[in-house]
Amino acid sequence: MCVAGSALALVLAVVSTGGAQDADPGERLMNAACQDCHSVRVIQVQAMDADGWMKRISQEIDKGAKLAKEDVPTLVEYLVRTHGPMPDGPGKEVILNTCTQCHDLYRIKENRRSPEEWEELLVSMLNEGAQLNDEEFARVHAYLSRNFGIE
Ligand code: HEC
Ligand code: HEC
Repeated sequence: MCVAGSALALVLAVVSTGGAQDADPGERLMNAACQDCHSVRVIQVQAMDADGWMKRISQEIDKGAKLAKEDVPTLVEYLVRTHGPMPDGPGKEVILNTCTQCHDLYRIKENRRSPEEWEELLVSMLNEGAQLNDEEFARVHAYLSRNFGIE
């Protein structure tokens, strides 16, 4: 019993260390430097280009964020990839506030879909647990079909 228990603990320890090593270097920087004063949620509800992120990060460093100068480009690259700019328009706010609760914006932007495919996708997100009322569903559906549709 005891031996089996400690073997299991060892396996779990190895698995979790492996996970940490596999994490994106930019994500690791964010987790280390950006959670002293607020949660990463305030970061995840943004959608900015490289200039915007660069400006924001230097403001945060002025406020006291502990991020080495040479690490700034890695963090900017990560944030632009995961929380880069999104086209303006109705529906954007819902996406930034609701859809980022489980994954980043890249996941949403990486594939183009027809209106029917977006509808199917959104229904599967409701099944995953996304909270959208009927009005938000319609607004997000129109936004995605317009901006990330098939030409
Ligand atoms: C020393 C404390 C501190 C650290 C560390 C810190 N922040 Fe902040 N951050 C703040 C404060 C205070 C605010 C809210 C006031 C403001 O918007 O200036 C804020 C707000 C923000 C906002 C929201 C701005 C908005 O418009 O709502 C973003 C985005 C942000 N921080 C990003 C970051 C990033 C990225 C890092 C890591 C590089 C970071 N912060 C680390 C103090 C900090
Ligand atoms: C409660 C959690 C949750 C919320 C909220 C959520 N999703 Fe997802 N989403 C998932 C999960 C789980 C997956 C499966 C892939 C993964 O593990 O990353 C996924 C995957 C996706 C994918 C990729 C699907 C594919 O086949 O490649 C898209 C696009 C997507 N979500 C869009 C959205 C949009 C748009 C919203 C907001 C309306 C949203 N998601 C909100 C959990 C969520």
